[in-house]
Amino acid sequence: MSDPAPSDVPAIHRLSPLPSQTGLTDDEITALYLEGAGDPWLRVNFVSSVDGAATHQGLSGALSNDVDGRVFDILRRLCDVVLVGAGTVRAEGYGAMRVDVASQGARSGAGMTPHPVFAIVSAGLDLDPRSPIFREAPERPIVLTTELSRPEARDALSEVADVVVCGRERVQAERGLAVLHERGLTRIHCEGGPRLFADLIAARAVDELCLTMSPLLEAGTSSRIATGAAPIVPLGLRLAHTLQGDDTLLLRYVRA
Ligand SMILES: NC(=O)c1ccc[n+]([C@@H]2O[C@H](COP(=O)([O-])OP(=O)(O)OC[C@H]3O[C@@H](n4cnc5c(N)ncnc54)[C@H](OP(=O)(O)O)[C@@H]3O)[C@@H](O)[C@H]2O)c1
Repeated sequence: MSDPAPSDVPAIHRLSPLPSQTGLTDDEITALYLEGAGDPWLRVNFVSSVDGAATHQGLSGALSNDVDGRVFDILRRLCDVVLVGAGTVRAEGYGAMRVDVASQGARSGAGMTPHPVFAIVSAGLDLDPRSPIFREAPERPIVLTTELSRPEARDALSEVADVVVCGRERVQAERGLAVLHERGLTRIHCEGGPRLFADLIAARAVDELCLTMSPLLEAGTSSRIATGAAPIVPLGLRLAHTLQGDDTLLLRYVRA
């Protein structure tokens, strides 16, 4: 049975390739995000203001809304692992990687673990092994780090996570992704942030970008969704679908 749209969340419609007359169910939205997705697959998800800001006062929360949140939760249902840069983990105050009961059911029904694995990318390892991220993790987290990280920090985190060195000064995207693939974590969902995303773009590793355009003008100096080294040739994208809920656009781009 397909979940009906939650009554307290605005209906989501498909604008392209075909218009829908009624709001989409969670199952219909899920099918749209699975269309054409390969395995292995690296999906990246961001929310942005219309003028390109990735944060409001240092956080993404104020840019998000119920429409974005609904798709955010659906995307976590579809992945083996959620990949996040340590800057985002610290700024957004991530806890243990747990999905809600409906998502656990959907994942179990699809033969997946109830919760995705949490993989964190960090050079400095300023991550507290006693934090709920590790202490309350339903799946053992993975920390992708560098040769230059402090050995004592690596040792402390190794008690609560798999710590893997994937580069000298920075985690090399290809090596980090290979570590996940070796563990069977091939459907990768990256929730940012902008510096990690730039590294993934530079490595030409991105298969898909899910971008929520929030109906806000932010101005200021906040970051774009990708900041860092630019690839010599920009990565070309194809618009796979456009969904709309209230004044929010949900754009799904896949690699051209
Ligand atoms: N709008 C959105 O959808 C969205 C999504 C995510 C984040 N954000 C916002 O973005 C801001 C954070 O930006 P950010 O660019 O700092 O985020 P980030 O990419 O998550 O964090 C950067 C940090 O992550 C680690 N890192 C990333 N790539 C690495 C690599 N290749 N090798 C080694 N370490 C790597 C490093 O951690 P260490 O310092 O530990 O070495 C680096 O300092 C926050 O304000 C957050 O709210 C917005």
